[in-house]
Formats: sequence, C-alpha cells, structure tokens
Amino acid sequence: MTRRPYPLTSDRWETGPMPTTTEPSVDAYLGSSLHLLPQTRHLRALHTIARDRGARRDEFLHASERIIRMLIEAGLELLPYEKHEVTTPVGATYEGLRPASPVCGVSVVRAGESMEGQLRAVCPDIRIGKILMQRDKQTKQPHHSYTSLPADIADGHVLLLEPMLATGGTALATIALLLDKGVAEENIIFINLITVPEGVERVCRRYPKVRIVTSSIEQRLNENAYMIPGIGDFGDRYFGTD
Ligand code: URA
Repeated sequence: MTRRPYPLTSDRWETGPMPTTTEPSVDAYLGSSLHLLPQTRHLRALHTIARDRGARRDEFLHASERIIRMLIEAGLELLPYEKHEVTTPVGATYEGLRPASPVCGVSVVRAGESMEGQLRAVCPDIRIGKILMQRDKQTKQPHHSYTSLPADIADGHVLLLEPMLATGGTALATIALLLDKGVAEENIIFINLITVPEGVERVCRRYPKVRIVTSSIEQRLNENAYMIPGIGDFGDRYFGTD
C-alpha cells in the first residue's frame, strides 16, 4: 500500500486534498490533539539531512537536534502561563508571563534520551525522569521494566520525550504508566520527531486529551514497523550503534 505524502499546511495547495479512504487519517486531530510544526523549507532541509542514509553521524546529530529543539520550544508553548510583571532597568513595567505549572521531562529509554540535551539547554533546571519499556516475549506487549520519576510528577505538566511514534504500542503503555502515577491526561505533552497516521490515531483515540507535538507525519509503516519514508532506526543512528 503506497499512501501519498500527507498534505502539510504549506504544500496543501500543491498536493491537493487527501483522497477519501478508510486508511487512518490525522485530519480530525490536527490543531487539537496533534500539533504539527510549520512545514518550513528550513525544517524540510533539516529533515533531508537527518533522513539521508549517506549523512555522516555528526550531520545527522546536528540536524536531528535542531529539529528536537524546535519541537521542545513548540511544546513549551502548550504550557499554561500566568501574568508576571517585572521592572526594567529604566524603571518601566514590563507586563510579562511566567509558567503557571511545574513541568518535568520524562524520556522513554533509549531513543527518548536523545531529546534530553535540548530540553536541558532550553530549561536548565528541569527535572527529567526515565521510563524503560520492554516487550514481553510471550504477550508481545510492552511493559515497563524500569522507571525513575520525580516524586511530585502528578502536580504539573510532563513533556514526554519519544522521537518515534510508529505503531503506538510503547506510547500507549508509557502514557498509561504516567496516568497511574497521577499525572492528568491533559497535562501530558508528547514530544515526537516523526510519526505515522496509525500511531497518531491509536494514541489520540485512546487518550484524546494528550497533546502530540511532531515535525512530520510519514506515509505509512512497512512490514517491520519502520516508518516510510522515515529515518531508519533513530536510536541506533543517534547513539552510533547497530
Ligand atoms: N523506531 C525507529 O527508530 N524508526 C522507525 O521507523 C520506527 C520505530
């Protein structure tokens, strides 16, 4: 099955409307549960480097971290802010804003750890928890085998760091674990580099209050659950393993 590239905001005019089909569609979620970065030419150029199988590792790291930075900044826009006035050096009042809720990061080991550096660069004192999901050999379902989370995680917002949203299995299990720890569904902001309609639909249907921030919606999954055109195995490429 070859699906056309998803028509993104800036090229909707070039590619025309989505065909009517029963394939998973993200249309219903765009702008509410699903926040897609503006599809600028610069973003596309960064994706071109990150997806190139011939890219050197330093080129891949630079391009993917630039995109991760944009995603984190877009995620911070979804947090609540409250009014906060300060006095400027010339004695005037600046009517500013400050975050109105505590926020922490949670990375899904291992690929999610690739996003920690950019989160720390933007929010130097942020606390970052970790969740390790492993697939049960018998049930084939992901289950958590290690978690380390801030004790007061339920009191604020969580930026959930996982660059690949493919089948959605790990995402569903991770979100369920955060809800178990008392985090409100609407306080979970899922920061994701690339996704596919199947993954988006699975997460958004089950957890409609979770917000997903992504930079690309891929065409489809292949028979090995890799996204197409995709980026390959993100964790291996990022950490230099195979
Ligand atoms: N994980 C990856 O690293 N890449 C994919 O395409 C899907 C899952």
